[in-house]
Amino acid sequence: MAVRARARLEIRRMRPDDLDDVMLIERAAFRHPWSPELFRRELEHDWSTILVAVEPLTSAPRGTERIIGFLIYWLVHDEVHVLNVAVTPEHRRKGVARMLMGETERRAQQAGASLMTLEVRRSNQPALELYREFDYRAVGVRPNYYVDEGEDAIVMVKEMKRPR
Ligand SMILES: CC(C)(COP(=O)(O)OP(=O)(O)OC[C@H]1O[C@@H](n2cnc3c(N)ncnc32)[C@H](O)[C@@H]1OP(=O)(O)O)[C@@H](O)C(=O)NCCC(=O)NCCS
Repeated sequence: MAVRARARLEIRRMRPDDLDDVMLIERAAFRHPWSPELFRRELEHDWSTILVAVEPLTSAPRGTERIIGFLIYWLVHDEVHVLNVAVTPEHRRKGVARMLMGETERRAQQAGASLMTLEVRRSNQPALELYREFDYRAVGVRPNYYVDEGEDAIVMVKEMKRPR
């Protein structure tokens, strides 16, 4: 089910025909972007969900929209692993990633997940700040996890509160 996260922005699941827009964001966000093929595969996995943040274009014909961010997570047993979150450079620092993270947690709660996990590059200050805002805590380091630059990954987790 799609959710209207705030006026003029909708969070919904990615569809195959969103791929070109998502690839634009991916390529602008990462030095070593995933291939379209990898995204296509994620769309087919039962355990994988890609959420997109969609902005309606008021000046364009009815029904036209623009994807300005996405988040990929896996739900395996009672654990949600956030693989990737990215926002177009011109829409950053406007709360788009916060909305994607919030919606992911809502869905995790709904699915009965008890643990959220992720890895982040040691140097990625914006992402570290974002995850800290959501009360993720660093629990370990995977040395040279990102083989491209040999950068360490910080492993972060968050225990989910059981709904009363
Ligand atoms: C990390 C990223 C997804 C954040 O997206 P965003 O939509 O700009 O983030 P938000 O506006 O929702 O920010 C929420 C909070 O995160 C933190 N934050 C986000 N960007 C930050 C930055 N550049 N510097 C410091 N803190 C930052 C802040 O606490 C911010 O709250 P505030 O703006 O009220 O201070 C975005 O910078 C991005 O796409 N980066 C490239 C891809 C990437 O590195 N992804 C993460 C690795 S998987």
